[in-house]
Amino acid sequence: MSDALACYTEGRLRPSPAGPIRVGSGLLLDIRPLTAADAEALRSHVRALSTRSRHNRYLGGVNELPSTEVARLLGGVGGTVFPLVADMLDGDRRAMVGEAVYAIDRAAGTAEFALSVRDEWQGRGVGTALLGAIAVRAARTGAALLHGETLRGNDAMLALAARVGAVEVRHRGDPRLIRIERMLTACDIAIAA
Ligand SMILES: CC(C)(COP(=O)(O)OP(=O)(O)OC[C@H]1O[C@@H](n2cnc3c(N)ncnc32)[C@H](O)[C@@H]1OP(=O)(O)O)[C@@H](O)C(=O)NCCC(=O)NCCS
Repeated sequence: MSDALACYTEGRLRPSPAGPIRVGSGLLLDIRPLTAADAEALRSHVRALSTRSRHNRYLGGVNELPSTEVARLLGGVGGTVFPLVADMLDGDRRAMVGEAVYAIDRAAGTAEFALSVRDEWQGRGVGTALLGAIAVRAARTGAALLHGETLRGNDAMLALAARVGAVEVRHRGDPRLIRIERMLTACDIAIAA
């Protein structure tokens, strides 16, 4: 069995480097880079999040994703920031059900992530798939550590972190937050290869 296949059958992180994947709940997802054509759909996605989800995603009071922020994401910020979207596929139709972003710090060998899943699609494996896609892509850039931050009490994010084998670490700067860390393993790197 190849390393990548062995890792796949471990079942923790789904290898989703390209093309549609079927997640445990049966949803067919296409996880792909954000493009300029998605700008308005991304803003609608953020607007449609519940107040609680938006608060959890942006760690505070964001109501709208400013178009300048969308432009920043699309601009690539010097090739270190990578936005992704998760589309749910149903026959000929596709609909954005999640988004994620990861930022690579090449000098530190780390990748920082944040993500959101549309409320009515939460709990169906989309977040796990997005985080798996980030891990694969980040490993491909040479990152050795994936990290993010979440508000204390964000049970869904903490459950997702545990699901993918991440650990909770005390946040040095802000007592409202928990830092989540996951080493990128030989499995992630094998899948990414
Ligand atoms: C956090 C978030 C991305 C999780 O996405 P999701 O698609 O619901 O996650 P999944 O369906 O892949 O679930 C992952 C695990 O968490 C568990 N889980 C999901 N929601 C949960 C909740 N509210 N409470 C407890 N566990 C939960 C699932 O049961 C699953 O574990 P399992 O596979 O062992 O059953 C989503 O809830 C979200 O978008 N929240 C708002 C934004 C946010 O909080 N972002 C994180 C900070 S950047």
